[in-house]
Parts: sequence; structure tokens; C-alpha cells
Amino acid sequence: MPKKKSLDKMQGKMRGGHYSESPAEILAKINQSLGFDRKLYAEDIKGSKAHAKMLARQKIISEKDCSAILSGLDKIKKEIESGGFNFRDELEDIHMNIENRLGEIIGAAAGKLRTARSRNDQVATDFKLWVRSALKKLDKNLAGLQKNILARAGEHAATIMPGFTHLQPAQPVTLGHHLLAYFEMFSRDRSRIKDALVRMNESPLGSAALAGTSFPIDRDFTAKELGFDRPMANSLDAVSDRDFALEYLALGSICAMHLSRMAEEIIIWSSPQFGFIKLSEKFTTGSSIMPQKRNPDAAELVRGKTGRIYGALVSLLTTMKALPLAYSKDMQEDKEPVFLADATLELCVLAMSGMIADFTADKKKMLESASLGFLTATDLADWLVKNLGLPFREAHHITGKIVALAEKKNCRLDEISLKEMQKIAPKISAEIFKVLSMENSVRSRNSYGGTSPEGVRKAIIQAKKT
Ligand code: ARG
Repeated sequence: MPKKKSLDKMQGKMRGGHYSESPAEILAKINQSLGFDRKLYAEDIKGSKAHAKMLARQKIISEKDCSAILSGLDKIKKEIESGGFNFRDELEDIHMNIENRLGEIIGAAAGKLRTARSRNDQVATDFKLWVRSALKKLDKNLAGLQKNILARAGEHAATIMPGFTHLQPAQPVTLGHHLLAYFEMFSRDRSRIKDALVRMNESPLGSAALAGTSFPIDRDFTAKELGFDRPMANSLDAVSDRDFALEYLALGSICAMHLSRMAEEIIIWSSPQFGFIKLSEKFTTGSSIMPQKRNPDAAELVRGKTGRIYGALVSLLTTMKALPLAYSKDMQEDKEPVFLADATLELCVLAMSGMIADFTADKKKMLESASLGFLTATDLADWLVKNLGLPFREAHHITGKIVALAEKKNCRLDEISLKEMQKIAPKISAEIFKVLSMENSVRSRNSYGGTSPEGVRKAIIQAKKT
């Protein structure tokens, strides 16, 4: 803790010349954001360097002051990264910490960095840069997950399993097809990332406190320097906009929902009652008293952590909902939910990637399960339509009777004799048995986007191209 006098001096610097008293202890406590916003240090330094360079180019500060600022900022970055930086809570946030340290290193020239910039445009810029990298990281992790999904889908293009609606056995599908459904969801997540990156790529820097500045700044230069496409068009909007963070949380929430659905299926499928897949010991835990257990903890946590990400979205939406223009201190509450969502999404996507690569499928069990529950009943009805020219409604009725018979006899559809079927529909021929097999059923569903092994293989080729 610095001495009282120098503390007052530092706080005076932040609070301005018209302040003579120190803040109440509780104000200092509620006001500080250093505890979490130190994560923005690299973006803050990057933004400050761009701003200093622009000020010098525009002859607002001297080249000499500019190079002192740049080398001071580099030194600070090294101090932070080597653990040698003395973070001070009483300086509120990372921005003031860096500015104060710059003053210690280069003296009065540090104060010139404040010219034509406020913490309002500074923090909006830093945070946007951070969210932009977070989106790129999420995209990369999702690409990795998709790669694993494609590999497993290729392996299981012809693996038959029951497909469900209402979690009731519906029609046979292939495991490859089922996995590719998730590939599509993650593709949409990635396309939302792409869209959001385009929209958010405008620079708030140079909007100053809220109204712009009377200094002859060059906002195009700083925008370019920081990898933005252009400066934001309205300074009031620029300092009070957090749409970029909200979009990240919104698309992250949708992505978390996809991950959670996939996790749920892993949990169901790996329970012994289903027995479709097994996770190795790498992705399951045992129980201290029940030796038979293989708990799918990672999948459960991917499902469980979804709430945090939705929570982050609702939290920031609520923070923003009634704020008048422009900046309000409420907006300091924008960062923690985003940081939490980022860390959570990273864990969940990587855990899911790992589980997808890890599971083994029990093909026999899946096929057995598909053979129960009369999954080829639709094929039977379709056959009646195609071969006997019956209206579907009538075919559906006849099939219902055959299913009822199978139920009564406690046997599969293909175990009912032709004679018995003909008692229900006299024109049925032995050809019917072809469509009652699982293999034929999935093979026949070769419409675009359908479950046939051939369709799955084509979809994989297409997916690899895009
Ligand atoms: N720590 C603040 C934040 O994260 C920085 C902006 C402060 N601006 C202000 N006008 N007090 O939002």
C-alpha cells in the first residue's frame, strides 16, 4: 500500500483538481474494476500505442514524447508479463494503473497520452479488441470440434441406430448422420461468429468522452492501426455501445445450447440401459461406493455450465437495458460476464471435442435397439403406397394393424409371416421383407440431407470442402 500522501496524489489525479477529499473506503471498493479488467492489459497497451502514434503524426504531440510513450508502454507490458508489475487497487482499473506507471517511467510526457482520449473510448476500444480475439478463439476451437465430428461420422457412415422423436424410437438412422446434425449446428455457430466479427469491426477510439474532440485527430489511422475496418460513425454511440459483447454472449448462448444437447445425448447413450456408446476412463469418473459406475462427468458439466453462459447474456442485457446515453458506470459491469462466458465456452468446446474423439460405439447394441420398436413401420407403409397404389392414409392404417399384431406376438415386423400379413392386406407380396430390414431402410432414405450411408459420405465430402 503506498503512503497516504502519495495515495491522495494519485487519487487526486483521477478525481481531478477540484477534488480535495479522498473517496470513502466503500466507494473505492465498489468502484474498482482492476480485479477483473487487468485481463485487458495487452489491448490497453495496443490501443494506447496506436493513439500515441496518431497524436504524433497529427503533430498534436512531439515525436520525442511519442517515442518515450511507446517505449514506456513496451516496458510496462514486459513488467506485467513477467509478474513484476505492481497492481494498485486504489487506481481503480487497468487503464489508470498503466497510465500511472507510464508517468513513473517517463514523467510528464505520460499525461499527453490523455490528449483527445477519455477512458470512455479507451475502455470501449480495449474491450472490443478483447472480444474480437475471444470470438476468433471460439471459432478455432469449434473448427477443432467439427474436425473430430467429421472423422467419427466417416467411421460411422453406415452404423445403424434408432432415430428418435419424442425420445421414442422412430426410424432407423445412421450414427454418421446423427453426428453430422451437430456438425451443421456448429457451422451455424461459426457463421454467426463471422457475421458478428464484421459488424463489430469498427473502432470507438477518438470518440473521446462522448462528443468527439476539438483536436485534429485521425480516426481512420487509429482504426487501421488496430485492425478495424473503419471508425464508428457516432461518438455517443461509440462510447455507450456494448452490442459487440452482447452478440458474443448471444451467439455463445446458442452454441452452449448446442453443446448441451450433444452432451445430453452422450449421457443418455452411455447409460447401460441404452449402451450405444462407451466413454473411456479418460472421460468418466467412478464412484467411491458403487464400483460398477462410469459417470459421464465431463458431459454433465458441459450440460450444466450452459446456465452460466445464458446467465452472462441476461446479466449484460439487464445492465444495458435502461442506460441513457452515453457512458454510465453501470457499464463497468460488462466485463465479468463476458470473461466468465469465454472461459466456460473454451472448457466446454474442448471437453466436447475430447469426448467425440474418445467414445466407442457399440454397433451391435445400436442395431439391436433399432430392431425393437417397429422402426421400419414407415417403410412398410411407403411400400404399400408405392407398390399397391394405396393412399398413404390407408397404408398407415394397414401398417398399424400389422404393428399391433407384432406387438401382440411380441416379435419384430419381419418375423410376421407373409400369410399373416396377407390376412390384413391380401395383395402384400414377399417383396415387402426387403424394406423391413434396417439396412434397406437407411439405404432407401437417399433424399438430399437424408440418413443413407451414401448421403452421409457425400455430406462429409461437402463439409470438408467448406
Ligand atoms: N473502469 C471503467 C470501466 O470499465 C473505465 C471507464 C471509466 N470511465 C469513467 N467515465 N469513469 O468501465
